[in-house]
Amino acid sequence: MDDQTKELFGRVNDFIMAMMQGQEGYEVERLFDFVDNFIGDHFHQEEETLKSYSFPDLKRHMAQHEYFRRAFRTIKDTYLITGLNEDLLRKVHLNIVSWLIAHVSKTDKEWAEYIKNSPSYIKPPDR
Ligand SMILES: [Fe+2]
Repeated sequence: MDDQTKELFGRVNDFIMAMMQGQEGYEVERLFDFVDNFIGDHFHQEEETLKSYSFPDLKRHMAQHEYFRRAFRTIKDTYLITGLNEDLLRKVHLNIVSWLIAHVSKTDKEWAEYIKNSPSYIKPPDR
């Protein structure tokens, strides 16, 4: 797990803790900022890696990233207009937090496995 993915889980944890205490208003903007960066750096870097390994399912994987980018943008735009309400909070939870966790912990495993078995894969040094 890379540092950014670790940070993702930390952020999500902070957000859930804040939700439980009714303090999610403070955390939601930090979460949005983080997801913005995550989409920009992490998705982009991942797509470049998958291209360089000619990952066979690249199109479908990129379509999933694109789906999330749009969903996130819509939710963020709505937040800027309406602020945080119960409906939006549900969407943040379901369409941002749960989606990202499922993607990173399940869908991304598919390409990770493929790359590991690729002949051009160079094992990173143990840390
Ligand atoms: Fe991905």
